[in-house]
Amino acid sequence: MNVLAYYTLSSYTVNVAALEESFAKRLPRYPALPATLLGRLAVDNNQRGKRFGELLLIDALKKSLDAAMQVASLAVIVEALDERALSFYIKYGFKQFDQEPMKLYLPMKSVEELCQAIQ
Ligand SMILES: CC(C)(COP(=O)(O)OP(=O)(O)OC[C@H]1O[C@@H](n2cnc3c(N)ncnc32)[C@H](O)[C@@H]1OP(=O)(O)O)[C@@H](O)C(=O)NCCC(=O)NCCS
Repeated sequence: MNVLAYYTLSSYTVNVAALEESFAKRLPRYPALPATLLGRLAVDNNQRGKRFGELLLIDALKKSLDAAMQVASLAVIVEALDERALSFYIKYGFKQFDQEPMKLYLPMKSVEELCQAIQ
């Protein structure tokens, strides 16, 4: 059996001071808050460019949103492997952390809007 694509989701903790002020000011006043880490998103080399990456990303965001209804999570976090992965995530609205530009976040509110827009 060939694996076409995969990703992982896990719990994560975000340092609130690392977030953009406009987003951070609307969050509870704690130094660290829960988030969801989307890891290892990848599509088989021979299957790239066929929108599987997008399908997988949307699937991961929907699952993250569903989970956040039960257990709090302020955003989905990703760590881009390289500049290409970085532009892939920025295309879907992810924002870079100022101090760690290869790390990005998408606030759960934006995840919700994105999921609604593609329904
Ligand atoms: C990044 C990755 C998941 C994209 O998957 P894919 O199936 O090839 O991408 P899609 O066909 O779904 O493309 C969706 C959109 O993202 C864009 N895109 C895809 N790969 C991109 C890249 N490397 N850089 C910039 N944009 C990219 C596509 O052009 C498309 O945009 P469009 O609607 O404007 O045409 C895939 O290239 C991959 O597995 N890369 C190696 C692992 C990796 O970098 N993972 C990221 C986590 S670190």
